[in-house]
Amino acid sequence: MAHPQKKLAAEVPADNNDAAAAAVRQALADGLLAPHAQIEPKFLYDTLGSSLFTAITQLPEYYPTRCEAEIFARHAADIAAHTGSVQTLIDLGAGDCVKAERLFPTLKPRRYIPVDISADYLQQAVDRLRRTWPDIQITALGLDFSQGLRLPPVVPPAQRLFFYPGSSIGNLDPDAALAMLVRIRNQSPEGGLLVGIDRIKPREVLEPAYDDALHLTAAFNLNMLRHVNQLVGTDFDVQDWAHHAFYNEQDCRIEMHLRARCGVVVSWPGGTREFVAGETIHTENSHKYSVEGFTDLLERAGFRDIRHWSDARDWFSVFSART
Ligand code: AVI
Repeated sequence: MAHPQKKLAAEVPADNNDAAAAAVRQALADGLLAPHAQIEPKFLYDTLGSSLFTAITQLPEYYPTRCEAEIFARHAADIAAHTGSVQTLIDLGAGDCVKAERLFPTLKPRRYIPVDISADYLQQAVDRLRRTWPDIQITALGLDFSQGLRLPPVVPPAQRLFFYPGSSIGNLDPDAALAMLVRIRNQSPEGGLLVGIDRIKPREVLEPAYDDALHLTAAFNLNMLRHVNQLVGTDFDVQDWAHHAFYNEQDCRIEMHLRARCGVVVSWPGGTREFVAGETIHTENSHKYSVEGFTDLLERAGFRDIRHWSDARDWFSVFSART
């Protein structure tokens, strides 16, 4: 039976009230004024940034999306047997919702809750999804779930499965990843988590994935400056900056930075920051895990009954864990 479709705009509230916008401006200004300037990776995802990320997932160098798809294609039945029956599938960082959609035939959720900071991009995805899957009740949430998980009261607590694919949890530093896992566990009594993890591997594989020959990752990183210009009123000129990505072996993470090509002064209402040539703004970490390292993190967050599946090259793993 088709469920009545709510108006999407009311369901995808962008975090755009005045106080929230002021807090975002303040946090961005603080980051720019820090001794080593930084911008949080969530600001990579305006509508253009989300589209660029979708394009990145199709690059030959960017293996994680294909590895994860391979795992789900090969082990779908096994994974579904481990997750048990799912009433509500909650998709953290849903983007174009394609990854979750591939699981619908096996997991058969009655309700789907995609959550993404890029509300407009999510809205387009959900419009399409509703036409294809009229029997699944879809409630889209356009919000920044790194600030807390506020699920609407209509979502029943039983049989929730949180879906956190693509190694997005790797974009959090390990302490923040642990805190996120604890939040997920608290939101899911008698439920579970399905999460994708990028594995530690040689630099020769990792670095091209974040510095591709077509320069899509460079565009993705640089687009963040245009997004910040819109949010804060900074006067970043994209031409003054270069993409820089490298594997930090000690911390098991890819780091993305934007490096000043020349001396640059950036101004915004209420602030200014001078960068010397070569100075960088740190824009993203992408942590890579061993199976043991991520199992340990799940156990510390209080998950039990932990299983994982990997692709043929052991480059990526999907973990399923129960609360
Ligand atoms: C979304 N996230 C898992 C991507 C990653 O691999 O860390 C974001 C990304 N950054 C550069 N390329 C892709």
